[in-house]
Amino acid sequence: MLSIAEKDHGTPAATATATVTLEIDGRTVTVPEGTSVLRAAADNGSAIPKLCATETLTAFGSCRLCLVEIEGRKGYPASCTTPVAAGMKVKTQTPALGRLRRNVMELYISDHPLDCLTCPTNGHCELQDMAGSVGLREVRYGYDGANHRNAVKDESNPYFTFDPSKCIVCSRCVRACDEVQGTFALTIQGRGFDSKVAAGQNESFLGSECVSCGACVQACPTATLTENSLIELGQAQRSVVTTCAYCGVGCSFRAEMKGEELVRMVPNLDGQANHGHSCVKGRFALGYATHRDRVTTPMIRSRISEAWQPVSWETAIAHVAAEFRRIQAAHGKHSVGGITSSRCTNEETYLVQKLVRAAFGTNNVDTCARVCHSPTGYGLKQTLGESAGTQDFDSVMQADVVLVIGANPTDGHPVFASRLKQRLRQGAKLIVIDPRRIDLVRAPHVQAAHHLKLRPGTNVAVLNALAHVIVTEGLVDEAFVAARCEAPAFAKWRAFVAQERNSPEALQAETGVDAAALRAAARLYATGGNAAIYYGLGVTEHSQGSTAVMGIANLAMATGNLGRIGVGVNPLRGQNNVQGSCDMGSFPHEFPGYRHVSDTAVRQSFEAAWGVPLHDEPGLRIPNMFEAALDGSFRGLYIEGEDIAQSDPNTQHVTAALSAMECVVVQDLFLNETAKYAHVFLPGSSFLEKDGTFTNAERRISRVRKVMAPKAGYADWEITQLIAQALGYPMHYTHPSQIMDEIAALTPTFAGVSFDRIDRLGSIQWPCNDDQPDGTPTLHVDAFVRGKGKFMLTEYVPTPEKVTARFPLLLTTGRILSQYNVGAQTRRTPNVLWHDEDRLELHPHDAEERGIRDGDWVGVESRAGDTVLRARITDRLQPGVVYTTFHFPGSGANVVTTENSDWATNCPEYKVTAVQITRVSQPSDWQRRHQAFTETQLDLLGAARAAAD
Ligand code: SF4
Ligand code: SF4
Ligand code: SF4
Ligand code: FES
Repeated sequence: MLSIAEKDHGTPAATATATVTLEIDGRTVTVPEGTSVLRAAADNGSAIPKLCATETLTAFGSCRLCLVEIEGRKGYPASCTTPVAAGMKVKTQTPALGRLRRNVMELYISDHPLDCLTCPTNGHCELQDMAGSVGLREVRYGYDGANHRNAVKDESNPYFTFDPSKCIVCSRCVRACDEVQGTFALTIQGRGFDSKVAAGQNESFLGSECVSCGACVQACPTATLTENSLIELGQAQRSVVTTCAYCGVGCSFRAEMKGEELVRMVPNLDGQANHGHSCVKGRFALGYATHRDRVTTPMIRSRISEAWQPVSWETAIAHVAAEFRRIQAAHGKHSVGGITSSRCTNEETYLVQKLVRAAFGTNNVDTCARVCHSPTGYGLKQTLGESAGTQDFDSVMQADVVLVIGANPTDGHPVFASRLKQRLRQGAKLIVIDPRRIDLVRAPHVQAAHHLKLRPGTNVAVLNALAHVIVTEGLVDEAFVAARCEAPAFAKWRAFVAQERNSPEALQAETGVDAAALRAAARLYATGGNAAIYYGLGVTEHSQGSTAVMGIANLAMATGNLGRIGVGVNPLRGQNNVQGSCDMGSFPHEFPGYRHVSDTAVRQSFEAAWGVPLHDEPGLRIPNMFEAALDGSFRGLYIEGEDIAQSDPNTQHVTAALSAMECVVVQDLFLNETAKYAHVFLPGSSFLEKDGTFTNAERRISRVRKVMAPKAGYADWEITQLIAQALGYPMHYTHPSQIMDEIAALTPTFAGVSFDRIDRLGSIQWPCNDDQPDGTPTLHVDAFVRGKGKFMLTEYVPTPEKVTARFPLLLTTGRILSQYNVGAQTRRTPNVLWHDEDRLELHPHDAEERGIRDGDWVGVESRAGDTVLRARITDRLQPGVVYTTFHFPGSGANVVTTENSDWATNCPEYKVTAVQITRVSQPSDWQRRHQAFTETQLDLLGAARAAAD
């Protein structure tokens, strides 16, 4: 059911600009052509009873409750399936309609348990509402005959319950699963009285194809499909619109609250990124926010072998300030730094980089985007002039060809994937470039036209080969290139990609991609109409990540697929605020808005606003901080909301660097892997506990709104401010809106952004300024941000990570639907029911060669280290390639990944590690050490907690 604050208009809004005028209950109304009579009536004050219709789904016309009388038409048409017509005269309330509707309701109610007072949706049930609306006063049919009131509940899903005794077989759930989510997990089985909703082939919800998105729960008008939290806590009292803190789709939700307790998250119909849809994480996986593992008391210790001492906020903050000043006095001001988080708000991220630059006096600030999308920032800036995706998500509905490279949207960006699948079901063509057979390649009613199953590490070669076909087969959009791009750079690029060594045939042996298939894919991309590219970490996390991003931009420019709706270059951002953390000046070489620290005018504007001189040279990137820590020149690190000990490559190198530092300050919800190496723990706040904004992959800035008080007393921005004050640097914000005002004053692309304006518009896609006061859905419309687009040469340089006889397989890593990043959040929710461990996927051929069976423990050894995982044998992978996730710290996936990184940005090459796999019977040495270390650290935490109690 909808949120308590939402109104259901009955059928989807019509998009036509032409209008139709008709008469409803004697009133003249004008609505867009294609509007249903039901919606036209609802929008104009005549609510017609309905059950099977809802605003998010195509009308179906099965319940017969929405009947109306239309002058000149026989019978009683269903208003939900009848479009308006000019001059139509509709009556929505007559004695005959009243009788018919009561009869329909009587039949429904005669087979419905009348336990309204104890029903979880009491007071918020459409069946109940409709019974009242039609004036049902008696049910003439007894309950003695056959009925469904003893049908057995399905409670297999951890987040919602299916109680078929309450089902009215309206099929809203089935249609939601098909139309909105695109999983097609539900069917109506049987006919007449025997018809019933079934998941899969009569399986439990958990055992079926269901991905637990909750669209069916939201669509259900009765208590048949109900959130378990609602069953447990009862109806909410208020709702607050906020933004999901998981992936870069940035779904908008109504957080329904009862006092300080979160009852449920309902995707917001007005959400401009998600239009009322969500995935399992954003809707259901919220338990981490109140999990018992949360540390809510500040703690300090001198050495990581010592017990934590719980202390007051004042003591903890004073300790941090004293330690950082001590270290800087002894080792220079550049001996400390900070790491911002893509999980925190823009305002918090901005404050951390301000703290580092203004109060620490160094540019040693970096962010977790270093290890994911830093090549996007670099590559798109070089070619197009702006470090961000070019479109909004809705743009995909006008794409004719969609090229997905190095991304797995159904798992990583599920709500965008649902939208993409809608477009593919309408007939758009799909090209997938990925070493694995991701779900999109073959989904219900979706089949990729081409799946180019390349070898990991050969993206640039494949992109060059695609460009070669476009250039040599005369498929370049010459007019676009001549008008919009730098001619000399294009000429060089054209000559470069046209070389025979860049042909699909010449590169086939290297890439593993069939030349004919690649040629066909290139032709489709170049000639199939509006063509849009969506890419992810499978592009960026390579030694040539930045080159591949530039290769993508080159393709889009060469074919004229930029600057309008339906096309573009779209990085799918992993975490909720990756775009924002980059925008906010988290990189050591850039102020907010991607302006270099050496730019005197820009630097002076910040110096004037912040009241201190600022350093004009880039500071250390995260990997450089590790190197400097190991050589003794970097000794203090403030980390807000990141877990570098789990997320960064070559874990042993990272932990050695952390161990070498004198003061590691971790601000987080949990004692994460990094905090086990920390000297100060500052308890952070979840997104439910603070105000601010997140910026999603569309550059869309959306509000995060506080729905409960911070569990440890402070929101993260307040903690940063306290540290600044303790260091003697003034920060006196009383609300994050003031921080945004400062960002807007200092950052041209954010000049028009304010909390007031976001509240008024719902969200804003930057740039937002005097020229674009409502934001910019599509970039580069008449000209590129840099003026003329610049083709960049993209020479393919094979990764140094080579397979050899000792390491004959290539390991690549990724995310799956139930998991989020390093798992700090999702591991503390029932999402672990779907995957309770990281598995090593390998092809049956590779498994057989090594005598490995499904479920065996296997050792994974690389040049960096080794670990042990359980094997899953699957033909999703090609022979020679293995895959794992990195959700559980004990898996040690990043013990194996190497320090190879992107030449331009140091983004680690997570996607290519040469490994050997062998059957083993016990954990690796690292895993044993990690287990022992973890136990010790948890004991030290336990002692602190006992002391605090
Ligand atoms: S489960 Fe709900 S939505 Fe689905 S058919 Fe039954 S009543 Fe309708
Ligand atoms: S939760 Fe989502 S995937 Fe599962 S049955 Fe419902 S709509 Fe389909
Ligand atoms: S798709 Fe992403 S933003 Fe939307 S609910 Fe899921 S995790 Fe949250
Ligand atoms: S609402 Fe129109 S037939 Fe059910």
